Amino acid sequence: MNPSSIAKYRPFPPVSLPDRTWPDRTITTAPIWCSVDLRDGNQALPQPMSIEEKLEFFDLLCRVGFKQIEIGFPSAADTEFNFCRRLIEENRIPDDVTIQILVQTREHLIRRSFEAIDGAKRAIVHIYNSTSPLQRRVTFGDASREDIRQLAIDGAKLVKELVPTIPRTEVVLQYSPESFSDTELDFALDCCNSVIDVWQPTPEKKMIINLPDTVQWTTPNIHADMIEWMGRHLKNRESVIVSLHTHNDRGTGTAATELGLMAGADRVEGTLFGNGERTGNLDIVNVALNMNSHGIETGLDFSDLPALRAVYERVTRMTVGERHPYAGELVFTAFSGSHQDAIKKGLDRREKETKDNPGIAWGVPYLTIDPQDIGRSYEAIIRINSQSGKGGVAWILDREHGLDLPKTMHPQVGKTIYDLADQRGRELSVDEIRDAFYELFANVETHLAVSDYELIHHTTERGTVECTATIVLDGGEKQITGKGNGPINAFVHAMEGIGLKDFKVTDYRSHAVRGGSDASAAAYVQVQHDDGRILWGCGIDPSIEMAGLKALVTAWNLLRQD
Ligand code: KIV
Ligand code: ZN
Repeated sequence: MNPSSIAKYRPFPPVSLPDRTWPDRTITTAPIWCSVDLRDGNQALPQPMSIEEKLEFFDLLCRVGFKQIEIGFPSAADTEFNFCRRLIEENRIPDDVTIQILVQTREHLIRRSFEAIDGAKRAIVHIYNSTSPLQRRVTFGDASREDIRQLAIDGAKLVKELVPTIPRTEVVLQYSPESFSDTELDFALDCCNSVIDVWQPTPEKKMIINLPDTVQWTTPNIHADMIEWMGRHLKNRESVIVSLHTHNDRGTGTAATELGLMAGADRVEGTLFGNGERTGNLDIVNVALNMNSHGIETGLDFSDLPALRAVYERVTRMTVGERHPYAGELVFTAFSGSHQDAIKKGLDRREKETKDNPGIAWGVPYLTIDPQDIGRSYEAIIRINSQSGKGGVAWILDREHGLDLPKTMHPQVGKTIYDLADQRGRELSVDEIRDAFYELFANVETHLAVSDYELIHHTTERGTVECTATIVLDGGEKQITGKGNGPINAFVHAMEGIGLKDFKVTDYRSHAVRGGSDASAAAYVQVQHDDGRILWGCGIDPSIEMAGLKALVTAWNLLRQD
């Protein structure tokens, strides 16, 4: 989102329950973001990206505003290595972007990784080894804690030794106790502190300790407690950036990250739309837009989310689900009538309130953010189907087609349009709704039509208007004349003159049609038949007087329909 859009959202509310044991916490600033789309995301694709696709994705991530981008595992495969070299040799890395590479704590892989990043202005070397009891037993064949800690130390020492061999590159060091989420805390701490001892970071040259929620085994609050504990016990905390790397096995990647930030983490790794192993990595778009929606600037620009999503879907061949937070096709669509009514009220009220107070906080029922702030359009917010409430059709006609129907006309029009949706067995598009309204409620000429009129304003009888109109009644043309206190009243008397008086006019409204290509007026006339039936007709015409006559004629014709 753009900073100017973000300003209108309310800060996270301070939560203060009298009996809570947790300290009051909230998120007030954004973390350092690191995209792992090109590594964790790419390695999880059924069909990994080609180098050209990766280059396109890398550019996209830079445009979004990521300053740290993990570009892969260059020691693992030639494509990964070559991609890294192309970025560096073709000068494709913006000066303010730091690439990150991942490597296991294994000697030949670490050496090859240094060859890959040589010449980059700045690179994060991210080493990891798995630390959990399960991985120690199964993957490392009953390795002891000491064996695993030693792996970390040896890897850290080798990295430290290799840093001076690539003097053109400023190297930032990162260590992950992989499977941290399933590791005994004291042992995870031991591994991390051992690496900190080797690398000796300073507040001026910090290192990163990344604490992966590799497989989520627990609830987000426990994850946050673990992060908090690590933050309190890590050596040289002021020289260490604590980083989160959540996955989504329990469907709580976002929650775990948000709570982890409240627990003191400084940095977040994740991917666009949550791509990644199994259920995926953290969806950074989700967390960043959650922050935006509480007025927090994140440095990431998701103001054209549909365009971003289109590139993502094309190059990853993944799809974003219809209900995916912020990005899903349906997330700004209200099907329920009561929701539609409330949204209409909210948007109308906001339009009025922002005229006097442009900075007023966003507050529209059911819409956590203004869809326009992320490139979504209001057009798609409400679709009409047979289950929708009466306000939905009126909302569409108003917002999309500039027709502000009188409130008491909403049920009459709503019911007919919903019946139509029912008959067709599907939702109606906004254009179909307009067409149906024009066909069924505006300028209807089934029995009677008015083709021309002339008004004479009598100066002798003040306030009296004489209307002479050419009408077509059941195929025959006629001239009729009548007098009244206005054009409609005069026309009613003219109709009475030829025996067409079985009704009375009970209400009348008019307005200019907003946004139309020709400057048209819309008029609405409500009539009551002698048998008690009440209904509205609409007239649309460049002349406001003719629009009024057409509205009356429409209502009269509608009285004659079954
Ligand atoms: O999920 C994970 O544990 C990882 C590490 C390699 C950081 O991706
Ligand atoms: Zn991961």
